[in-house]
Amino acid sequence: MHDVFVKSPLNYIGGKHKILKQIIPLFPQNINCFIDLFAGGGNVGLNVEAKKIILNDNLVYLIDFYKELQNNSKQSVLKHIHKRINHYNLSLTNEDGYKALRTHYNQTKNPLDLFVLVSYSFNHQIRFNNNHEFNNPFGKERSCYNPSTESNLKDFIDKLQDNNIELYSKNFEDFDLSFLGKNDFVYCDPPYLITLGTYNDGKRGFTGWSEREERALLYKLDKLNKQNTHFALSNVLEHKGKKNDLLEQWLRANSNYIVNDIAMNYSNSNYQTKIRNKQATKEVLITNYMPKKHLFENELPLFKNTKDCCDEVYWEQRKSA
Ligand SMILES: C[S@@+](CC[C@H](N)C(=O)[O-])C[C@H]1O[C@@H](n2cnc3c(N)ncnc32)[C@H](O)[C@@H]1O
Repeated sequence: MHDVFVKSPLNYIGGKHKILKQIIPLFPQNINCFIDLFAGGGNVGLNVEAKKIILNDNLVYLIDFYKELQNNSKQSVLKHIHKRINHYNLSLTNEDGYKALRTHYNQTKNPLDLFVLVSYSFNHQIRFNNNHEFNNPFGKERSCYNPSTESNLKDFIDKLQDNNIELYSKNFEDFDLSFLGKNDFVYCDPPYLITLGTYNDGKRGFTGWSEREERALLYKLDKLNKQNTHFALSNVLEHKGKKNDLLEQWLRANSNYIVNDIAMNYSNSNYQTKIRNKQATKEVLITNYMPKKHLFENELPLFKNTKDCCDEVYWEQRKSA
């Protein structure tokens, strides 16, 4: 079956491609301005319909890559990539070629070279040291640029070149959201406080993710709520036996926020083991509105408590749907 969603060619860690079918139907319709505040691989922002789409990520080299794709023809992008692969003789096994390109990239910072590097790097991670040098090791035998990467890249370029897309590389705290109104929508997929990603270890020359950033984000979301702008926040409430207490406290303080349960796509047998060990991850999408999907499909979101389940407005809406 052909996937209706564009998939990021970056194989982004924490990318939401696999769960788009669950989260996009939970978004409001007829969005004026959509902001993907932590855009990462762009899996969400590029698959949403809105009059204007803003992708933001503080990883400036990532946004530079998107700008390069936006401003150059598909043909010239592909030509550059193939030229680099041939010049450095890149393959699943040529570590020396990979390291030579890495040195070249750190001297020149050509955004398309970053993409080639990431295609051949360990777990496709985008990782920099404090001097802003790309330092991810070689993805020996596992990572390469292949026909499926190229097909994803071509679709991705088509989407990025839609003229309603704007790109920013700001720290989310500096992104002014006060201009947004009731038909605008902010999606947040930040690093998760209780899981470990390369972007929340603070070791890549960019801000890490700690309780301080988490609080600042929750505060920003409350401000959006006060100005009647809809938001959705992806996160995990539990992971490997750990709980995100800060998030739970915030939910208790804001009884109008809705917790929508997201089923994780576990295809490996490990899942059963995880469930048995109570190590499973509880992934959620928190919204400050009642998603229409629930109204139409007779589904209940995962309510925080039974009081919310008895919310009169909610039941009125269900009756009239
Ligand atoms: C979970 S990833 C987003 C994945 C994305 N939704 C996707 O589907 O591809 C989180 C992103 O937040 C970015 N990030 C981390 N700290 C940030 C900050 N302070 N401001 C803006 N972006 C930040 C990281 O660079 C990373 O790309």
